[in-house]
Amino acid sequence: MQHDTIAVIDFGGQYAHLIATKIRRQGVRAEIRQPDDAVDAFDGYRGIIISGSPSLASRGEDSQYTKAIYDLEVPILGFCFGHQELARHCGGQIEHGGREWGKADLHTAAGHPLFRGLDAVEPVWMSHFDSVVSVGPDFEEIGHTISGEAGEHRYAAIGSDSLRRYGFQFHPEVDDTLHGDEMIANFVFEICKCEASWSMEQFLDEQIERVREHVGDRSVFLLASGGVDSTVAAVLLGRAIGPERLHLLHIDNGLMRLHESVDVLRMFTESGLDRNLHFVDASDTFLESLEGLVEPEAKRGKIGDTFVDVFQSEARRLGITHHLLGQGPIYPDTIETGGTKRSETIKTHHNRVPIIQEMIEAGRVVEPLADLYKVEVRELGQRLGIDQQTLSRHPFPGPGLGVRLLCSNGTQDTEGFETIEPQLEELAARFGLKATPLPIRSVGVKADLRAYEHPVLLSGDVDWPVLIDAVSAITAQVPGINRCVWNLEAHHPARATAIEAYVTRERLDVLRKADAIVMEGLRRFGLYDDVWQCPTVLVPLSLTDEPGETVIVRPIRSQRAMTATPVELPPELIGELRDQILKLDGITGLALDVTSKPPGTIEWE
Ligand code: XMP
Repeated sequence: MQHDTIAVIDFGGQYAHLIATKIRRQGVRAEIRQPDDAVDAFDGYRGIIISGSPSLASRGEDSQYTKAIYDLEVPILGFCFGHQELARHCGGQIEHGGREWGKADLHTAAGHPLFRGLDAVEPVWMSHFDSVVSVGPDFEEIGHTISGEAGEHRYAAIGSDSLRRYGFQFHPEVDDTLHGDEMIANFVFEICKCEASWSMEQFLDEQIERVREHVGDRSVFLLASGGVDSTVAAVLLGRAIGPERLHLLHIDNGLMRLHESVDVLRMFTESGLDRNLHFVDASDTFLESLEGLVEPEAKRGKIGDTFVDVFQSEARRLGITHHLLGQGPIYPDTIETGGTKRSETIKTHHNRVPIIQEMIEAGRVVEPLADLYKVEVRELGQRLGIDQQTLSRHPFPGPGLGVRLLCSNGTQDTEGFETIEPQLEELAARFGLKATPLPIRSVGVKADLRAYEHPVLLSGDVDWPVLIDAVSAITAQVPGINRCVWNLEAHHPARATAIEAYVTRERLDVLRKADAIVMEGLRRFGLYDDVWQCPTVLVPLSLTDEPGETVIVRPIRSQRAMTATPVELPPELIGELRDQILKLDGITGLALDVTSKPPGTIEWE
């Protein structure tokens, strides 16, 4: 191998690719390998990292992999599932239990090279059901957490310096592990002795070359939403194949923000990307296709299929034949759709519906950003000379407000509530809060698995850290709960009632207004750039005796959208949101989503 390289074994944890990216950002090449790759495929690597997985090691799931890797002479480090597998293979024991979600304090072993330069106590990110309960003869504990109700001591990091085998129960690759980059760097440089020789400059050159080869003499027809990803993809493709052969299509799917399409077309024109710029208002087609749908995956699937239909009919109308489909999805879009060999589907992104998968397999799709995360796309955009205002726009999902407009057939989805209500009430009271489970569901992610569970409404005037602690306790301890929202109304409701509501232009118009109020508020309070993203969600849920729906505001901080933490908003801004949003037609409830990811996802569907 030309460059020092680390192999990352993808057990399908959402994080395998993130690990590879984190290593590349240290200037060292990283390649993804599959668990059943023959041992010869691991020749030449300087080290191996075993990723997390949605599988349970305690149940023997996913235990048929190439165990001969453990006989190789290179250092190995396992994360989460990888840590448990490595511990077991090397003589330790694991058990189902001891689960931890979210932030934990890692007490590190003084002087261990993996924690060189770090503090004695480091904040780390956990998401696991199984735990290591004993280690093999050559191993020792190099880090622990104190957790659970009884404050138990848990193995959080183990290692054998003689064997050069290590395991972390936490995820150092996510940004919420404050010094995770340093821990990965310590493994790569101190233990594997790699040298840095990889860069974004090189990535850009390689991509341009790859696009030219793939496209040949054909043209590319790119779906351009105006978001950061498709805009960076447009400029990169233009640079690779020239503006004559690049066609941009902007579709108004009726699920855009207030005045969005007008603003996007202006931005493309001002950026000189208007040579072959096409626009179609397909909002009627999209809204008709969504009529009567409730289930999130059904809505996502329909939006994705309609994009393809509209795209194909526009291509025919414009006489653009012999073309490839250009898309700007980035890595999380692929991984959360189950796009790597072993990842669990959390939600199907609009540009990963089956018909597009078929086109990808037939080599008819170009996606120059499919290996990158948002921070890297922004960095690439800067290199390509795109203006800062465009690059700093919040991410906006392809299915747009379609995944922020929850629907219901009016059923009160309260199965299991009788059992959890007393536990919930007692737990919330410990934090000075009142709690009600909500009779609808939203999408979330727990231990890498999709969770379609209930949110809980919390009411009470408590400080932010207390609120966040309450959310961690509730989502970890109460089964069937993946999200908490904080009531911004003065009174805790006597009941919460799901009401029948589907995708309609009227509801979308109300949501557009609420979203515009939130965005304008964030800008005015100077918070827009500090906040990664802030979905505003319309939920068909009445929290008062009056009929009406509830608006949920979800400001989060994140660096790569793989994990996220909720943002505290200033009381003055909350007051303004309350004044303005509760005046909108048919809105009687307002709450702030205070859940981290995991266990919630950023979007509600
Ligand atoms: P979640 O909700 O899974 O979102 O935490 C992670 C990031 O992905 C965005 N997102 C999408 N982007 N098509 C997209 O282009 C989609 O279908 C889609 N779904 C979620 C989301 O806004 C967040 O930035």
